[in-house]
Amino acid sequence: MPSFVVLGAQWGDEGKGKMTDYLAESADVVVRFQGGNNAGHTVVVGEKEYKLHLIPSGILYENKLNVIGNGVVVDPEALFTEMDYLKGLGENITPERLVISDRAQVIMPYHKILDALKEVARGKNDIGTTKKGIGPCYTDKVERCGIRICDLIKPEVLRSKLEEYLPGKNDQIIKLYGGEPLDLEAVYATFNAYGQKIKPYVADTSVRVFDSIKANKNVLFEGAQGTLLDIDFGSYPFVTSSNTVAGGICTGAGIGPTMIDSAVGIVKGYTTRVGKGPFPTELENEVGDWIREKGFEYGVTTGRSRRCGWLDLVILKSAARVSGLTSFGVTKIDTLAGLEKVQVCVGYKLDGKIIDYFPASLEDLAKCEPVYEEFDGWDESIKEARKYEDIPETAKIYLKKIEDFTGVKISIISVGPKRDQTMRVAEL
Ligand code: GDP
Ligand code: IMO
Ligand code: MG
Repeated sequence: MPSFVVLGAQWGDEGKGKMTDYLAESADVVVRFQGGNNAGHTVVVGEKEYKLHLIPSGILYENKLNVIGNGVVVDPEALFTEMDYLKGLGENITPERLVISDRAQVIMPYHKILDALKEVARGKNDIGTTKKGIGPCYTDKVERCGIRICDLIKPEVLRSKLEEYLPGKNDQIIKLYGGEPLDLEAVYATFNAYGQKIKPYVADTSVRVFDSIKANKNVLFEGAQGTLLDIDFGSYPFVTSSNTVAGGICTGAGIGPTMIDSAVGIVKGYTTRVGKGPFPTELENEVGDWIREKGFEYGVTTGRSRRCGWLDLVILKSAARVSGLTSFGVTKIDTLAGLEKVQVCVGYKLDGKIIDYFPASLEDLAKCEPVYEEFDGWDESIKEARKYEDIPETAKIYLKKIEDFTGVKISIISVGPKRDQTMRVAEL
């Protein structure tokens, strides 16, 4: 099992941070390959809770290499804030523990400004982004006017790129959105300082990851966001701007598909999403509110309350297909404990027919009526389960339904935020 993947199978916040931390014990290298500090991954170690945005969740082990791959968009300010935060918690981040791709794109101040201004301009059609500059940074990458880490660390290249791009960005800010322009010298001074500070961490990470796999080291790829936030397969346009599915690993880490051995889709026992966009099984009622409070469903990055709903197996089946998932890791079934009955969506009724895939068109999706199956609930004893046999029978039936419907086995079950509240029940 030299290389394996942890991916979100829903709309993010499935518990990828916890699962990455759990699996990182047997990994030598942990790699982020897409997204940026729009992610918020929680890891609980003993009594300490860590919230990570940009740095891979393997950082909490001393002897692992953590990699920020070329597919990630890096906000240097957020990076150094996170390094300081970890230092404050007793973690010393050195270039032996963290490397950053020279090909990764840099989130510039104008990306963050434009993210916020564009959201306002969208009015009632806003996406509900995290306003971290993610979309505008990926836009520039594709437009071929991005600044990469390899440019940031060379003062003369940084200056010439800023001279080329900043006037156009200021024009957009002022003329399109009525915002305040940025001063080139001030941006240069700040980012040149960041560049020099980041330099010791910079490497060709594709080479590092490739060599690690070739040397038979265990490499874990840590996804951010989730399948339905994927730019191609998500609920477009209410998505993020990267490929969150397994395909994103090849382009975002610089390795070929033949080098990935298994892919674990992380599934929350119910469904949540932050931000706007369709959500067929959303519960806009007291059950949804109950789940939000019990599961403490508030965003790690923005603090926004997460919308909650029943588990949607149509989504999981689509996630399994587009990422070639080899197993699921299921989290937070403990949150549902106490409900007398729980429901699971097993299809969408569209124009009189039942479909079991997530449609591309939002107009079709709006017409979809979820078809539910009802299951008996379970009690709080589930939190104490440490092996599969300890899990209440009713919860086992619920879990079995996930496997039967999707054709994908469950390899890990999590019944609480801590490392020891995790059961390995099958191969990844
Ligand atoms: P991520 O973005 O996928 O890493 O997930 P988040 O960290 O944003 O949200 C998951 C939340 O659920 C965090 O607060 C975790 O500590 C917590 N969590 C993870 N697994 C479990 C679980 O099995 N049970 C409970 N109760 N909480 C969990
Ligand atoms: P983790 O890794 C949940 C959502 C935002 C918004 C949309 C686009 O913690 O699971 P963006 O700022 O990326 O342009 O916002 O994507 N979003 C997330 N939702 N978890 C995340 O990350 C998310 N990252 C982005 O709320 O709807
Ligand atoms: Mg999160």
